[in-house]
Amino acid sequence: MSTRHFLTLCDLTPAELNALIDRASELKTAHREGTATTQFPGRVLAMIFAKSSTRTRVSFEAGMAQLGGHAMFLSPGDTQLGRGEPVEDTARVISSMVDVVMIRTFGHDIVERFAAHSQVPVINALTDDYHPCQLLADMQTYREHRGPIAGKVVCWLGDGNNMCNSYINAARQFDFELRVACPEGFEPREDLVAQNRDRVTVFRDVKEAARGANLLVTDVWASMGQEDEQLRRAQAMAPYQLNSELLSAAASDALYMHCLPAHRDEEISADLMDRPDTVIWDEAENRLHAQKALLEWLLEQANA
Ligand code: CP
Ligand code: NVA
Repeated sequence: MSTRHFLTLCDLTPAELNALIDRASELKTAHREGTATTQFPGRVLAMIFAKSSTRTRVSFEAGMAQLGGHAMFLSPGDTQLGRGEPVEDTARVISSMVDVVMIRTFGHDIVERFAAHSQVPVINALTDDYHPCQLLADMQTYREHRGPIAGKVVCWLGDGNNMCNSYINAARQFDFELRVACPEGFEPREDLVAQNRDRVTVFRDVKEAARGANLLVTDVWASMGQEDEQLRRAQAMAPYQLNSELLSAAASDALYMHCLPAHRDEEISADLMDRPDTVIWDEAENRLHAQKALLEWLLEQANA
């Protein structure tokens, strides 16, 4: 069987994704109860980071250690990748020495080219277009707090960025309605919206989009690599802030999420970040458990 990768949520079937999230919650319980097992001694994860990270690096590195394996941090500044060694050659070499590879980079084509030349599973840990690992944690978090997300309404606020594109994939794979509230010129990928017209709608009116929603989600207005556009983006997206007033338009038991890092009082009001009942910190912690389930699944698939 050909090697399975995780470049977008569409690389797994809905049944596989749901089983993975069940397993993530089981691993979370085992971790908390001290009954987790180290089932992958000697296995190595290579982590290539061309962009900054706190959660992704810590969760993958801690997760791999908790599974009994080892994680290796590689940055283009310290490897030959940064000096122009082709992605394809790098993929052949690294994948001959490790068991799984995680990449955070710019163009989505880079992870695709790496995967095409890799002998081992490749995980997309964020590209300019997608952030599927974060969606595993978000879907786990929703389910743990509110039950299945199928049939619910999710409202995305602000920039139609890599997280928003992944929410479109999630709408299809987890079977929910997605309303994207964004200013003109900041829509998610046009092809994705077109392919998912049955469940994705773009709104300009933020209140209309949030009305009755079960989950409100936002992210920074300027993603990594867009720092020069921060001011222009902040001006365009100011009406799309996730705040208490908007939350009151949503369902009475609505959750709200943010993948973090957040710019307090820009895309999300500080009071929402600090509410005692917020699930944002649980959402961040779930990166650890969801990715352990992903690593376990990919390593088992590779050995099957
Ligand atoms: N949410 C997320 O991916 O965070 P980091 O950029 O800190 O990894
Ligand atoms: N959209 C953000 C997500 C960070 C986790 C970025 O790409 O910078």
